Amino acid sequence: MIRHITKLGLTIVVIVILIVIGIGGLTHDAAHDTMNPSKHRSHLKLKERIPSTHDGIDLFMKTEHTNTYTIDMIIPVTKSEIVNDEVEQWIEKEKQAFIDNILEDAIDQASFELSVVIEQESNHYDRFIFQVDIKKDKSEATQQKKVFNIDLEEGKVLSLNDFLNVNDQVLHSLLDKAIELLEQREEITIDENTRQAIHASKDSWEWFVNHKGLSVIFDGNAIAESKHMPLRIDMPFQALYLLVVDNIDTYIHLSDIQKTEIEVAIQKEEERVLEAKREQKKREQEKAEAKRKQEESTKPTHAKYVALTFDDGPSAEVTPRVLSILKEYNAKATFFMIGTQVDYYPHVAKQVADAGHEIANHTEQHQDLSKLGPAGIRQQVSRTSDKIFNATGVRPYLFRPPYGAYNKNVINDAANNGNSIILWSVDSLDWQSRNATAINREIEQTIAPGSIVLMHDIHSTTADALPQLMKTLQQDGYQFVTVSQLLDIQELNGVGPFYGHYK
Ligand code: NI
Repeated sequence: MIRHITKLGLTIVVIVILIVIGIGGLTHDAAHDTMNPSKHRSHLKLKERIPSTHDGIDLFMKTEHTNTYTIDMIIPVTKSEIVNDEVEQWIEKEKQAFIDNILEDAIDQASFELSVVIEQESNHYDRFIFQVDIKKDKSEATQQKKVFNIDLEEGKVLSLNDFLNVNDQVLHSLLDKAIELLEQREEITIDENTRQAIHASKDSWEWFVNHKGLSVIFDGNAIAESKHMPLRIDMPFQALYLLVVDNIDTYIHLSDIQKTEIEVAIQKEEERVLEAKREQKKREQEKAEAKRKQEESTKPTHAKYVALTFDDGPSAEVTPRVLSILKEYNAKATFFMIGTQVDYYPHVAKQVADAGHEIANHTEQHQDLSKLGPAGIRQQVSRTSDKIFNATGVRPYLFRPPYGAYNKNVINDAANNGNSIILWSVDSLDWQSRNATAINREIEQTIAPGSIVLMHDIHSTTADALPQLMKTLQQDGYQFVTVSQLLDIQELNGVGPFYGHYK
């Protein structure tokens, strides 16, 4: 027995060497064998206790010799029944598999040798690393390892999760990494079936953890034809820092440097995760912003909408001209009609309505409403409303006071009767200039998306100005809608009811 005690006095490695030859004689009852008709009937002669340097662990030697095989085992027995049961169950299973596979007509004796290395990592972590050497007839000897990671204080067999936080996904990637390292070192390619078998069964590989890292032991016999020995892959601790459980100290003793490195690694990882979250949030915000912009760009207001309005008509000559130009541009406009004009030209009023334009109220006699009382205002508005309704079948709810003159009474009347007072934001001054070029210049200088343009369909110069105006505005991207449509669009975009200039 060789005993190593590290500086810390924590890791004791005991190598138990089988010396079965010397004690074979004590256990082998040759006489009995010859008398026994069954080849495989054997004698478990002994439970020879051998000295152990480990507190709480006894070592027993068991041998079993028949004329077809020999079994020599060294079995550690702890104070924990649970641990002992697990260990014994595994040994029994291995032994039975060995016996079941012995060839009946074997010439040479088969042998099964079980040895164990006990490594003490800490008070809470011992491991039994069993080695099984099997020799069958003329076939090549095989060797396998089995590791029991044990907490003797608690009397339990430890799982990998007692050391590392590994879910299935992490475990698979660890195994993939180990397989990759194995392939590189052994210069072999592990076929897909074997690879899958490794991933599928936790019994297909062994492991232990120490301060150097995680060691994975593969069964060479299962890996490749040419391999008969266990294949161990060591994965450095640095690669596992983020997986280490909080209480790793319970099981293995890490240096202060390692502890610091773990803290730094975890901190870095936390920062990385935070940064990734920030990045993710940023991307989401950018995406939302792009989406918002996209939506805005398709919103009506951000297209360039304008409402052309024609006051004081209908007139016999100009209104039909205006209608025909609007039609040419597939444009819709709003006509603020005077009651007396509707009396004169009801058919023109009807034409306007039939063409899909909006008809609105501009009072009966174009009086300054601010100089009238509530009753006078009501009469001016309601009579016109009736006239328009009679002529066109449509009752107007938009109302524009003549001269843009209004006061509280006007507002009250509109409010009480469900009318909206509509002024304008662009004055073409067509009534003043009576000049097509001047009209266009005036409008083009002041127009903006969402404008309500004031014109009059009683001046021929206004109709003269219209073709060029429409052409220019259309080229500029404007679309021509009625006032109601424009207000709907405004409202859709959070702009409230409209009672005046908003430019
Ligand atoms: Ni007017």
